[in-house]
Formats: sequence, structure tokens, C-alpha cells
Amino acid sequence: MFSRLPAPALDPILSLSAAYRVDERPNKVDLGIGVYKNSQGETPIMQAVQRAQDRVVASQKTKAYVGLAGCEEFNQSMVDLLLGGTSVTDRVSAIQTPGASGALRMLADLLKFAEPETTVWISNPSYVNHKPIMEAAGLKVRYFDYFSPVTKQVDTERMLSSLAEAGSQDVVLLHGCCHNPTGADIDFDAWKAITELSQKNGFTPFVDIAYQGFGDGLDEDARGLRHMASHVEEMLITTSCSKNFGLYRERTGAAIVVANTLSDANNAKGKLLTLARATYTMPPDHGAALVKTVLQNQELTAIWKQELSEMQQRLLNLRQTLCNELRNKHNTSQFDFIANHKGMFTVLGFSPEQMTQLREQYGIYGVGDGRINIAGLTEKDIPYVAQAMIAVS
Ligand code: LMR
Repeated sequence: MFSRLPAPALDPILSLSAAYRVDERPNKVDLGIGVYKNSQGETPIMQAVQRAQDRVVASQKTKAYVGLAGCEEFNQSMVDLLLGGTSVTDRVSAIQTPGASGALRMLADLLKFAEPETTVWISNPSYVNHKPIMEAAGLKVRYFDYFSPVTKQVDTERMLSSLAEAGSQDVVLLHGCCHNPTGADIDFDAWKAITELSQKNGFTPFVDIAYQGFGDGLDEDARGLRHMASHVEEMLITTSCSKNFGLYRERTGAAIVVANTLSDANNAKGKLLTLARATYTMPPDHGAALVKTVLQNQELTAIWKQELSEMQQRLLNLRQTLCNELRNKHNTSQFDFIANHKGMFTVLGFSPEQMTQLREQYGIYGVGDGRINIAGLTEKDIPYVAQAMIAVS
């Protein structure tokens, strides 16, 4: 049975982590997978999360099952973090999922069930897992124009004209903030324009927001999404606690459905639960228990917000320091765009060959599509990375 299987294709991001681990060069730098590192190059457990973990471990009396939707207080917290202050919270439902990838798959399966002919429009480029997940659910995928390789920013005009082709059976998948891989976000006017297009042409917006708090701040990063949710009848949202709570391996995320009525939202949730039952039954509890503990306690919430804001500020500093190094030491403004990008990632505009050269000659691991993870840099790596970027450019 298995002899006919083709050799597996390597995952373009996860395979880098494996290769980095076995690389013995002392000056290697991991700018591949989206994981935040501090100045010492470590990814420690956040303090608020550690304190929550101490409380959970001390008070938890059972490991019995929780339920198909996971932890409902966690689900409500995710709705509040994303949609708090809007009027849509009375026509929304949510389930806890294994990370945002799990949420993407559950909502893709829901779409396939609700409207089998759905085409999902994704940005060109997009998160490497968007297309495989949508296609694995049997959905068709089309790309919309997004990034200008010349300005290294969003080409809003071209984006809107390609989205004008999306029709009433279609779904448009947007990044809530901190676009992966480019780092180039749509501005608030573009959020408003896409919302109007959705109202006019009838497509359903689907917002994947995996980096809330890493761009401009927790509320600022949800501004476009909140505007959209307040003005459309139906919308899908996926979110993750991997980055903003540092819970990567705990696989903690949520799938949220905004519907026309509460009854529709509950029907969608019912279907999501049967889909989850047929896939993984229920999500792992530990990460959600930690997030719930943080967000239900004022003191822990304040510590978490402070830590998140420090990470966000440090990302801005790393971007600026890298630009300054390139400009002042290497006399080039070619990479000034790095300072204007948001969140963890930036697309350098390098070819796959240049990215290979960075890896093979300098031990600097970025993704083949030219993406580097700014959050993987440490201050001491910056001169070396800048020098290597100049050498391959
Ligand atoms: C990334 O893009 O590096 C992360 O979101 C990790 C992942 O799941 O691919």
C-alpha cells in the first residue's frame, strides 16, 4: 500500500528548524519559524503565563475530558479580545482549537459543508499553510494581488481591483495584522474599502489574526477586523495564542463565527463541534487553561499586557537597528522598508537562491520566499546579519 507513495515534500518552514538544529556553526542565526526570542536568544515562558501555570498545577484536581468546544471561558475571552466593544458579540460563537492552523481547518471544513463550491481568495503571497489547509478541505483557492515587490508595501489599488472579482459564493481570507510573510499590512482605509466591497459583492470575509499585539498594540491590531465585523452580516475569524502568550507548543487557538443571528452562529458552532469530533474530538486543555487564568485575573492580565507591549516595542527597535546598521555602516537605504513593516516578519525581496546563499555561506536561516523572522534576531546578531545581507544582495 505504501510503496506507491511519493517521497514527501519538506515543509518550507518546519524543515528549516530541523536543519538549523543540526548546523554546528557557532555564528548560525535562526530567522526561519515565527518564534520570539529575547536578547539572550531564548524564548522563555512569559511571567504571567508562568504564574498562571503555577496556579493551574496547584489547583487542578482532574484530567477528565473538558468538552468538544474546549474551555468556554477561554472561548469567551478570545471573543472579547478580538471583538470587545463592538455590537456583534450577541451574534457570535466560538470553539477552542489546536492552534490557529486547527481553527483554519475547522472553518475550512465548515465552509465546504455550508457552500461546497466556495472559492477562497488568499493574498499573493500568503502564510504558507493557508493554501494547503483550504485545499485539504476540498476548497478551491485563488490569489488576489497584494504585495508590491517594488515598494515592499501593499498595492491597495491592485488588491481592490482583484478582489472586485470575488463573488457571493466566495470567501476572502485576510491577515488581521502583521501580514505573514511580508510584514506589509493593509491600512484602515483599505479595511473600510474591502468591507464595502464585501457588502456590495456579497463575499464572506475570513480574518486570520495570529499576531494580535505584535503590530501596533492589542486594540490597534484588531481595529480593521472590528470595523469589518460591525458592518458585515457574516464573517469568520481564526486566532492563536502561540505568539502573544508564547504558548507555541501548547497549540492554543480559536475559531470564531460571526453570523447574521445568534441562532445561525449557534448552528455553525454545532456543525464545528461535529467536525471537531470527527477530526481530533477536543482540543488540548493546558494552554487554554493558562490563558483563561491570565485573562480572568486583573493582576496577571496587567503583567501579560506589559510583557506583550515590551515584546512589541523590542521588535520595533530590532527593525530600526537593522535598518540603521545597513544605512550607516553599509551606506544603503535599500532596506529602509524593514522599519515600516509590522510584526515578526519581513520579506527582503531576495530570490530563493539568495536565501540559500544566506543559509549555506553564512548560516542565516530564512524562508525560501525571502521571509526573515525579525523576532528571531538578537541585538548582537545584527551587524553580522546586515553584513551578510549586503554580501548576497
Ligand atoms: C510561521 O509562519 O513561522 C508560524 O506561523 C509557524 C507555523 O505554524 O507555520
